Amino acid sequence: MQKLLVTGASGFLGWNLCQQARQKWDVCGTYLAHAVEIPGVTLLKVELTDFHALKQLFTDIQPVAVIHTAAQSKPNFCQEHPDESYAINVTASLNIARLCSDRAIPCVFTSTDLVFNGLNPPYRETDPVSPISYYGEQKVLAERGMLECYPKTAICRMPLMFGVASPVAGSFIQPFIEILKAGKELSLFTDEFRTPISGSTATNGLLLAIEKKVVGLLHLGGKERVSRYQFGRLLAEILELPQENIKTCQQKDVPMSAPRSPDTSLDSSKAFAIGYQPRSLREELEALKGRI
Ligand SMILES: NC(=O)c1ccc[n+]([C@@H]2O[C@H](COP(=O)([O-])OP(=O)(O)OC[C@H]3O[C@@H](n4cnc5c(N)ncnc54)[C@H](OP(=O)(O)O)[C@@H]3O)[C@@H](O)[C@H]2O)c1
Repeated sequence: MQKLLVTGASGFLGWNLCQQARQKWDVCGTYLAHAVEIPGVTLLKVELTDFHALKQLFTDIQPVAVIHTAAQSKPNFCQEHPDESYAINVTASLNIARLCSDRAIPCVFTSTDLVFNGLNPPYRETDPVSPISYYGEQKVLAERGMLECYPKTAICRMPLMFGVASPVAGSFIQPFIEILKAGKELSLFTDEFRTPISGSTATNGLLLAIEKKVVGLLHLGGKERVSRYQFGRLLAEILELPQENIKTCQQKDVPMSAPRSPDTSLDSSKAFAIGYQPRSLREELEALKGRI
């Protein structure tokens, strides 16, 4: 089997990706603060912002493809710590693209729907970016820089993701479930829309990007546009949790450090055309029942 390097294996997406990718690849995953074990996957602790450590990793592993999911992925943290988050979100990403370019190997980067301001959805790959938070700006800088260093990079813009938590990193639904199981009220935005997908669908999309030799931008959104409130209702229905405890709220009711886009729904027709097939949200959540 060929060697695939997955950065951020301890994170929500990286962990889900490693579980699935190990069926076809010899996977090496990296972590930093949170050591994890995944049967059949080699895991290494690497500070990706340390260029020498990163270069050594490539020398030691000799990957034939790289999927770079490691990031400071929390927009509020990025807003409050712009320099610290820049180092992993931008500088490390550019260095990874350079190292992939040196070896002429596939390089897949996980960007975000938050490169858009959310005023003109649904967004296609041809639409101009318009970030409104530092996180969104950093992802734009990484996208541009990586494509400059290595034009063959596949930039996969990910939507909001949900699914099975890694032992150390969950998705946005784990806190929802905890609150509802505790019988407490959960207030969710009725004015924030996304096109969510499961970690497993995201994994399929990222592996497809390697298989189809995708170059440049690719949107990996789901097929349904939903508000956080609509999503929460569906989740509660499927997991048989008390729906009456889900209340409505609006973005303006919850002040946060990073400005929030109202609707960053992605138009993912380009990905659908090459075989990316997200299931309906109902099917995705039914498949996760008993595992989340
Ligand atoms: N989750 C979403 O809904 C969503 C939506 C759109 C885009 N994305 C993008 O998708 C990717 C994966 O997101 P996620 O939610 O899985 O992220 P996550 O759970 O926050 O995981 C982040 C990963 O990055 C690693 N990491 C952070 N800083 C590092 C550093 N300096 N050196 C080495 N590793 C470092 C973490 O390692 P340790 O924890 O071990 O330190 C962890 O494995 C990110 O690029 C994110 O921006 C996510």
